[in-house]
Amino acid sequence: MADDTEHRGRVALVTGGGRGFGKAFGQALSALGAHVVLADVDGEVAAEAAAEITAKGGKATGVACDVADEGQVDAVVTGIVEQHGGLDVLVNNAGLHAAYNRPFTELGLANVRRVLDVNVMGVIICSLAAREAMRGRPGASIVNISSSAAYANRSIYGVSKLAVRGLTVALAREFADAGIRVNAIAPGLILTDTVRAQLSEAEAERVLGEQILRRAGREQDIVEALLYLVSSKASFVTGETLRVTGGFALSV
Ligand SMILES: NC(=O)c1ccc[n+]([C@@H]2O[C@H](COP(=O)([O-])OP(=O)(O)OC[C@H]3O[C@@H](n4cnc5c(N)ncnc54)[C@H](O)[C@@H]3O)[C@@H](O)[C@H]2O)c1
Repeated sequence: MADDTEHRGRVALVTGGGRGFGKAFGQALSALGAHVVLADVDGEVAAEAAAEITAKGGKATGVACDVADEGQVDAVVTGIVEQHGGLDVLVNNAGLHAAYNRPFTELGLANVRRVLDVNVMGVIICSLAAREAMRGRPGASIVNISSSAAYANRSIYGVSKLAVRGLTVALAREFADAGIRVNAIAPGLILTDTVRAQLSEAEAERVLGEQILRRAGREQDIVEALLYLVSSKASFVTGETLRVTGGFALSV
């Protein structure tokens, strides 16, 4: 049985934690008593997001970190182990999306490579860096953020998020012996600030038109999925990708 106190004293690392989902995940986990480390390539927003949490009485640290750079990621995890003794939850949320969800011919090779570095290598680098710090900790779990785009595959973005689904299965197999569950969430379109700024109204309309539930997704919809997957309610769940899409592109 999960209870509301199970996250008290836990340590959670959320990548891309300065904005959008990452920031909302950090707020939700800290509200349950976890110390959250918000790691973002934009160190300023990470520090601001952490300061918002501490101002409300939560425990949070903001750090600058590019998930595609193994040196930076190792340094963050080493710092967490030195300060807290280990890591309980890793949310591989950092990702390039919206403006990067465009045809190969428009994006160009340099951007295609960067999408793969951040969205795919970032998940691998952070998961490998975290493995020993998480080993054997009760309730240890990793949640990767995929996307509904992984089911449509219209661009390198979708392909990178399909790789995240594959990685979720492969890492779940490989990390089970260390007592770490690995799952993913595939969100549908959620109007975070980045999406509002970078997605055209026509594209947003198209996605809504393909959903079964005719409302825009909310950050809280994704937060609820995260809280389920990192809780003991999901203690027998690993290797899964949970779609939270309002029924976008539903298929069997
Ligand atoms: N918003 C949506 O509709 C939606 C839908 C499906 C999946 N997703 C996925 O959810 C995740 C978060 O989306 P969001 O809308 O909250 O994004 P966002 O753009 O609001 O926030 C992402 C954060 O990640 C950070 N980041 C980018 N590259 C990084 C790197 N190399 N290292 C560390 N941090 C980095 C950014 O600075 C930013 O603060 C992404 O992986 C995205 O692909 C979003």
